[in-house]
Amino acid sequence: MGFLKWVLAIFTLCTYLATPTLSDSLLNKDELASISANFLNLAKRTDLFDWMVKIRRTIHENPELGFEEFETSKLIRNELDKMGIYYKYPVAVTGVVGFIGTGKSPFVALRADMDALPMQEEVEWEHKSKIPGKMHACGHDAHVAMLLGAARILQEQRDYLQGTVLLVFQPAEEGGGGAKKMLESGVLDNVDAIFGLHISAVHPIGTVTANSGPIMAGSGFFEAVIKGKGGHAAIPQHTIDPILAASNIIVSLQHLVSREADPLDSQVVTVAKFKGGGAFNVIPDSVTIGGTFRAFSKESFTQLKQRIVEVITRQAAVQRCNTTVDFDTENRPFYPVTVNNKALHEHFRDVAAQMLGNDKIIEKKPTMGTEDFSFFAEAFPGYFYLLGMVDETKGRFESGHNPFYRVNEDALPYGAALHASLATTYLLEHQVKATTQDRNVRDEL
Ligand SMILES: *[C@@H]1O[C@H](CO)[C@@H](O)[C@H](O)[C@H]1NC(C)=O
Ligand SMILES: [Zn+2]
Ligand SMILES: [Zn+2]
Repeated sequence: MGFLKWVLAIFTLCTYLATPTLSDSLLNKDELASISANFLNLAKRTDLFDWMVKIRRTIHENPELGFEEFETSKLIRNELDKMGIYYKYPVAVTGVVGFIGTGKSPFVALRADMDALPMQEEVEWEHKSKIPGKMHACGHDAHVAMLLGAARILQEQRDYLQGTVLLVFQPAEEGGGGAKKMLESGVLDNVDAIFGLHISAVHPIGTVTANSGPIMAGSGFFEAVIKGKGGHAAIPQHTIDPILAASNIIVSLQHLVSREADPLDSQVVTVAKFKGGGAFNVIPDSVTIGGTFRAFSKESFTQLKQRIVEVITRQAAVQRCNTTVDFDTENRPFYPVTVNNKALHEHFRDVAAQMLGNDKIIEKKPTMGTEDFSFFAEAFPGYFYLLGMVDETKGRFESGHNPFYRVNEDALPYGAALHASLATTYLLEHQVKATTQDRNVRDEL
């Protein structure tokens, strides 16, 4: 690739000329532009595009739930094998981590999630899910295809990579805490920065939506069993009514956000589950309630968690009921707040502006939704952005987790090119910094 040789010639020159104070942005706009534009052209190349589409459709037809992505994982490994990319497997049951580049520091990671959802696809098309009750309705099939697309571009350019790119194919994003398990494996210990994307059915194709700082909430789930004493509905004095107790608990829980939280500090407590009773004339022995709580800081999250336990147990006691409150973090780990690193935000803006244009970068407003990318972004500098796919000429695009969810495959090259460009330019910039600042050499991964 001539353009990269040219970039590298300048880059090598810079390493001699640059002083640490000058090294904040080592690639000038022309260099960034040539990498970004060339990678987008590569990703749009018919053979690469068709190959990504095929991969995405194959995965779409065979959706697998969290920690069961065995066939998806096998498909990924087959493609990595064909490209001659070294990888580690299994990482967190079905996860795969590929390596491209020098094998040495700096290490930049790109992440794609692999799992589907337990729901029935209602879209009638040639590549509809073949598994009843399972569907890729969040676009993770497209995420895998885009990261493999990036892998192909990066592998073609591997001689020019100034460090190592890690391809992180992660299981169980949809509530299973797959990211947490991948971190616990230790395979990602030396990562310097990580980028992740989610395809968006809200934003137009060719746009990206992002911001620095906290962009998605931290979240947890709770469940409580309210124990009373069942009996005849017409003789309440002989019973301890858990239905009424649970009702009062739910009302009291609403006061945590409305009365105890700072109105400017967004928080949510929702009781989404209420199970108890089965007859019109029987007061049941117990009621089970459950729900989710969310906040934008560790302090607020911890405070909510503690108060949920207090409100449930004490309000139950008011009505002579006993309770147990369970957060079941083994199966449903608390998700940290997703915080986008400020320096990576600048880096992302530079790359996206060069590839797509400044007007194609939309500012992301924080949401109370969660992403288990937050585990990565808590462990090392991370950056998560949305990739638009809406094209009104192609009909209506339902948002994620809808049985009519569709992916606009024209978005695949954008994802692949952004992944590849972000990683390549990150390594170029940070490799020079390492040289000029005589940084300690880190272990190989
Ligand atoms: C609550 O627990 C106490 C102590 O174990 C027990 O005496 C009481 O009967 C329980 N009440 C209910 C409603 O289960
Ligand atoms: Zn989802
Ligand atoms: Zn998703």
